[in-house]
Amino acid sequence: MLPYGRQSISEEDIEAVVAVLRGDWLTTGPTVTAFEDEISRVCGGHTAVTCTSGTAALHTAYAALGIGPGDEVVTTPMTFVATASSASTLGATVVFADVDEETALLDPSAVEAAVTARTRVVAGVDYAGHPCDYDRLQPIADRVGASTLADAAHSIGGTYKGRPVGDLADVTTLSFFPTKNLTTAEGGAVVAKDPATGLRAREFHNIGLVRDPARFCIQDEGPWHQEVHELGLNYRLTDLASALGLSQLTRLEAFKARRAEITARYNAGLADVDGVRLPVQAEDVDPMWHLYPLRVLDGRRLEVFTKMRESGVGVQVNYIPVYWHPVYADLGYKRGMCPNAEAFYAEELSLPLFPDMTDEDVDRVIDTLVAIVG
Ligand SMILES: Cc1ncc(COP(=O)(O)O)c(C=O)c1O
Repeated sequence: MLPYGRQSISEEDIEAVVAVLRGDWLTTGPTVTAFEDEISRVCGGHTAVTCTSGTAALHTAYAALGIGPGDEVVTTPMTFVATASSASTLGATVVFADVDEETALLDPSAVEAAVTARTRVVAGVDYAGHPCDYDRLQPIADRVGASTLADAAHSIGGTYKGRPVGDLADVTTLSFFPTKNLTTAEGGAVVAKDPATGLRAREFHNIGLVRDPARFCIQDEGPWHQEVHELGLNYRLTDLASALGLSQLTRLEAFKARRAEITARYNAGLADVDGVRLPVQAEDVDPMWHLYPLRVLDGRRLEVFTKMRESGVGVQVNYIPVYWHPVYADLGYKRGMCPNAEAFYAEELSLPLFPDMTDEDVDRVIDTLVAIVG
């Protein structure tokens, strides 16, 4: 089975991990710092805090923004559930705003209609690797005193109006799961423009421990002294994982270029095929093509999905609208509330896309699809 996404591991990656195993630090050591510095460099120079997953990064980001009961987080239903559920876990109320019919990115006019005085975060998702229209989302958030969050699990390496992902929203979260644009096995990161938010993220992901004597609130008990001011969790990434991430980051541009080539090959091979609609590139965006979200028309998505899988092509569907999950349905969220997202979901089929795919793999996907829909 050709997978829909897969890691790309080089001999250099393996050597980098082995070198850490031979050293003194397995957990939080110099390689974590080096990886965070490099993420920061790629993401606009802001504070970067690595975490154990993209979900942990989202939880940390919302916690760093002080989200809790009574607060509202406006986000898209066209995402992996963690974008919303990590805010719900903190007691916030999630408000779903609809997406653009074509790109599946959060629609700023829907966000405008959804924000209230209680909105604390407007969380966009850079679906398929295309940054949202943050120049329109930011003023809407600013007007109600909220922050913007970019769930950039798909988009590290992409740009919007020439600015890199990480420099677009107040806070950005990344995922380094193996199907993503670079991997640390499990892993993720928070990038924060405001250093104080970055510090809160760093403390939350380290059990809330404060070790800076200048900030101690109680008497310094001695060299072992540390204090907890706010609750946190252990979401620390290891040196072992960071070595892999650091080595992978050196190939981010090469991964991006290969993903763009594969996308162009799909576009050319599928241009004249009836019964499908090809993904488009949003204006002002240089995407990191993370997904190739084809639309299968005429109610045939399940049939095409099944036949592709039977033919050994590992297609995927991204995503079931978040509020369809029973945990949200049970809270009273109703189907039909975001019609564009639901229409998009009904047709969406992600074709295999990962840097190690050969041109022959791509052609096989195209031929298989054409034989099924043709
Ligand atoms: C858009 C989006 N957000 C968040 C996540 C969560 O990332 P992770 O799987 O690393 O927890 C993912 C990945 O599954 C994702 O695709």
